Amino acid sequence: MRQLALPSYHIIIGAIEDSLSAFLKDKSYSSVAVIVDENTKEHCFQRIEPVLPDHYVIQIPSGEQHKTLNTAQKIWSQMVQNNMDRHSLVINLGGGVIGDMGGYAASCYMRGVDFAQIPTTLLSQVDASVGGKLAVDFQGLKNFIGLFRDPNVVLVDPKFLKTLTPQELRSGYAEMIKHGLIQDVNIWNRLMQNDPWDGMDWEAEILESIAIKKKVVEADPFEKGLRKILNFGHTIGHAVETLSFSTDKPLLHGEAIAVGMAAEVLLSIEKCNLNLDDARIIIKHLSSVYSDIDLSILSRSDELINYLTKDKKNRGGRRLFSLLSAIGKSEYNVEVSPEEITASLSGLQNAWL
Ligand SMILES: NC(=O)c1ccc[n+]([C@@H]2O[C@H](COP(=O)([O-])OP(=O)(O)OC[C@H]3O[C@@H](n4cnc5c(N)ncnc54)[C@H](O)[C@@H]3O)[C@@H](O)[C@H]2O)c1
Ligand SMILES: [Zn+2]
Repeated sequence: MRQLALPSYHIIIGAIEDSLSAFLKDKSYSSVAVIVDENTKEHCFQRIEPVLPDHYVIQIPSGEQHKTLNTAQKIWSQMVQNNMDRHSLVINLGGGVIGDMGGYAASCYMRGVDFAQIPTTLLSQVDASVGGKLAVDFQGLKNFIGLFRDPNVVLVDPKFLKTLTPQELRSGYAEMIKHGLIQDVNIWNRLMQNDPWDGMDWEAEILESIAIKKKVVEADPFEKGLRKILNFGHTIGHAVETLSFSTDKPLLHGEAIAVGMAAEVLLSIEKCNLNLDDARIIIKHLSSVYSDIDLSILSRSDELINYLTKDKKNRGGRRLFSLLSAIGKSEYNVEVSPEEITASLSGLQNAWL
């Protein structure tokens, strides 16, 4: 087992049977609830069941469309029905949807009970489960109702990834690329050299990737400054993701972020002097891993700009981006004009292989 210590909690990477029993060993929770969806119930729950004390299973339907106050309310109802008191533990066994919503539900229940994150998708292992952001979507607005609160522990077992679809795996891989690009050229170089789907040391790479996120959020837990670099690829990426939902080819989060990163690499050349050769290499890698993504959506630049201008991370109608000044180095609060965005969107349609 490998361990990363945050000031208030630990992230433990290794076999879940060992890490979960070690976490529970010296605890005396009055009750334990495990939140699952139909997929994590089928593929992941049997791994943790043998080491759990008496517990309740709260099953919710999978999918972002269920990341709502309505589902959170159903979680609370079951917690009340099971007489869970403030000395209880909630275990969130699932991807980012369960982690964000289960963490939110646990944090509000009786003003907050303990919760453990057991992320079971690559995206949630390297990204969502670390950093304390918890939320549900509200009236179609993503992550609009929520709070910051750290879990009591994060237990990461790369073996859970075996039952993920290749598309989900590739979605999480985009966030690993992002961590390398914004902070660590060595991560980027290793990801470039190894075929991601064959011969990669997942446990080691997941650990490195989490370490980047951990370092950044520790330095700026409430996103006043540095933490914004984690938004690289996300300003355009979120707009692409949202717009894709109204087409017959909706994109997964990481797929949209891959497109967003490529477009923002083009902006980085203009705005942050990113070296042209490095920009080419990044776009080449992204366009080979995500080669099947249809980029026709990029021609809807007015809609994309309109959407990203409303992004809750912007202030006063200014469009603020996190961009790269080199591979492994990033800047935040870089103001970009609509014309520059339009140029990057059409430039990417030509640069994407
Ligand atoms: N809190 C944060 O900092 C943060 C960061 C990034 C993303 N997020 C949030 O994370 C969510 C996306 O997370 P996600 O990509 O994990 O999606 P997800 O939680 O919807 O999971 C994707 C799919 O995989 C299934 N699944 C999960 N684990 C599995 C396994 N081991 N085997 C087979 N199937 C499995 C799920 O049931 C689901 O159908 C979004 O809501 C996003 O807002 C939060
Ligand atoms: Zn993301």
